[in-house]
Amino acid sequence: MKIDVVTLFPSWFNWFTQQRHVQNAVLLGHEIEFMDLRASTPLGAGQVDDTPYGGGAGMVIRVDVVEAALRERYGTAPPPHRTIALSPGGRRFDEALATELAAEPALTLLSGRYEGFDERVHEHLASDVVSIGPYVLSGGELAAMVVMDAVMRKLPGALGHDHSAVEESFSEALEGAPEYPHYTRPFDWRGHTVPDVLLSGDHGRIREWRRERSRERGR
Ligand code: 6GU
Repeated sequence: MKIDVVTLFPSWFNWFTQQRHVQNAVLLGHEIEFMDLRASTPLGAGQVDDTPYGGGAGMVIRVDVVEAALRERYGTAPPPHRTIALSPGGRRFDEALATELAAEPALTLLSGRYEGFDERVHEHLASDVVSIGPYVLSGGELAAMVVMDAVMRKLPGALGHDHSAVEESFSEALEGAPEYPHYTRPFDWRGHTVPDVLLSGDHGRIREWRRERSRERGR
């Protein structure tokens, strides 16, 4: 998979790209690149935003500036693959969307700042507008990292051990319910012990217990 991130703050991603699981994905042949909106703006003095029509506080990222960045990179705008604008007003990101995106050969993530993008970016340059939750962040960078993390861990081999991505929280193996509770040693911690069934060695019962706990959490 090839992921391109369009942002005004590429350095925000330095920490993310240094993490082991991200580096593993790169070693497996996946690519992540960052495009600084300011580097390709056709406006003078690195201008990327403008005051909102109709008045009001804040600045809005211009559609022509986003178009120029995409054209420089892909030769076309919109790009020939799925392009996701991160915006608090978008479709809520969830495990199903992460699975869907993990099947794409290429993604472009557009991280907005200030009051966000001109609406025409959402309508004509992005294929999807996505929000990571019901709260407002100061920009789309953290949201882009959340999306990348959830998507990249689904790429085959990215976790190092293929099994763990299958039966885990919100996966289809658990019928979309949250994951079951986990326990490890010590067996007895200050009088709080581990459920006996997990020590029974009866894998059928353990599986059933986990499904039930998982379903309970889903309510
Ligand atoms: Cl994608 N962007 C911003 N700025 N805030 C958010 C968000 C995105 N998702 C939730 N809050």
